Amino acid sequence: MSGPKVSTSDFENSGLFDSFLSAIAGLQKAQKEHLFWDNELFRGCRLGLFSLDDFRFIFSQYYLYSKNFTRYLSGLMANLDDDRLRAKLCQNLFEESGEDDLDQRHVQLFRNFLTHGLGIDLAKINFLPFTHHFVDRFLDHTRNGSALHASAFLSLGTEAIVSQMYEIFVNGLLHAGIAEEHLLFFRIHMACDDAHAATLAEILASFSAKPGFLVNAEDALNESLRLRGEFFDGLVGELRHRRISEHLNRIQGKTSLLSQDVNDADLKFMPAEPFVKPIYSNQMPALGIDFTVDRAPFPADVLDARVVRISPGNVNERHRHAHETVFYIISGNGRVLIGDRFISVQPGDCVFIPRWVIHQSQNQGQTPMVILAITDFFLTSKAFFGDYDSTARTRRPAEQ
Ligand SMILES: [Fe+2]
Ligand SMILES: [Fe+2]
Repeated sequence: MSGPKVSTSDFENSGLFDSFLSAIAGLQKAQKEHLFWDNELFRGCRLGLFSLDDFRFIFSQYYLYSKNFTRYLSGLMANLDDDRLRAKLCQNLFEESGEDDLDQRHVQLFRNFLTHGLGIDLAKINFLPFTHHFVDRFLDHTRNGSALHASAFLSLGTEAIVSQMYEIFVNGLLHAGIAEEHLLFFRIHMACDDAHAATLAEILASFSAKPGFLVNAEDALNESLRLRGEFFDGLVGELRHRRISEHLNRIQGKTSLLSQDVNDADLKFMPAEPFVKPIYSNQMPALGIDFTVDRAPFPADVLDARVVRISPGNVNERHRHAHETVFYIISGNGRVLIGDRFISVQPGDCVFIPRWVIHQSQNQGQTPMVILAITDFFLTSKAFFGDYDSTARTRRPAEQ
C-alpha cells in the first residue's frame, strides 16, 4: 500500500498549522482525556478478556461502520465550499478506495480480516439496531451538519483517534490468538491515518476564524466520541447478554428441565462414595496444601455442586472467584477463612462465601474434612469476561 500522493505538508509546514494547533490544543487535550477511552470494550481488549468468538461478534457489527466510511468523507465533501480542500479530501477517499487497485480498498481489507482472520460468513451477519443507529448518526452528522461540524466530527472525533484505537484492538486480537498476517487493515490505519487526520485538520482550520469555532468544534468532538462510546457499550452489553441468554430463556421458558435421559443416579449424589468427576486437586506439602475437588453429576443449569476433601491437618488453596458458594460441612473439624475472619466449623455447619472474597478451608482435625460446596459456577463462569479458571486457582487444570 503506497502512501498519500497529495502531500498535506504545505499546510503542516506553514505557520498557519502551528497557530491552528495551538488554537485547538484544548480540544486535543479534551479528546485525549475523554471518558470515552475508559469504555469497557477497550478495557477488555487491554486486559485480554475477549475470545476470538467475542471478536467475531464485535467486528461483524463494526463492519457496517467500516463499509460506510467513505460515505462519511463524501458527506463532508458535499458540504465543502472550497474546491481546493475538496481535492485534498478526494485524496483521502482515493486512498480509502485502494487507489488504482480495488482489491486494496480499505473496506476490502476489512472484509479479508473478517473472512480469513475470523472465519466469518459475511452473508450471515445480522447488524443489530444499535449498530444501524451508530452508522445512521455518523452519516447524519457528516452529511447534514455544517462543514465545520462535519470536519471536527471526522477529524478530532474520528481520524485522530484511529491510531490509538486500533492499537487497543490489535492488542486484544493478538491476545485472543489471531495471527499477525490478518491484521493488515489495522496496521495500515495505525501507520497512515495521521496523514488523513492532517487533511481533515486543514479543513477544520479553514473555519477557525468563524465565530463560535471552538464551541462548535468541541460539540462535534464530544458527539462523535459519545456515539462511538455508546456503540461500544452496546457491543459489550450484547456480548454479556449472549453469554447468559440461554439461561435466561430457560428461566423464562416455564419448561421442565428434567430430561427423560437423566438417570436416578444423576439426581442423587452420595458424597461419601468415590467420585466420578474430579475437576481439580493440588498437593503442595511445603504449604500444607492437600485437597481434591469433585463435581456432583447433577444436570444443573446454573448450580454446580462439588465435594471438597481436605486431608487431616491440611488446607486447600487460599483463593477467590466470581461464583458464590454455600459450604455444608459433611465431616471433619476446623475453620474457614472468609475475608479477614475465621469461622469455626464442624459437621452439619453451613457457611456462606460471598463472591470474590478470599477464602480457605482448614482441616484441623485427625480425619478427612469433606465439604459439599454448592456454587452458581455454571452461570458466573459463562457471564465472566476472561479466563475464568486463572482467576481462581493456583494451578491451571491443564497442569494437573
Ligand atoms: Fe481507511
Ligand atoms: Fe472456592
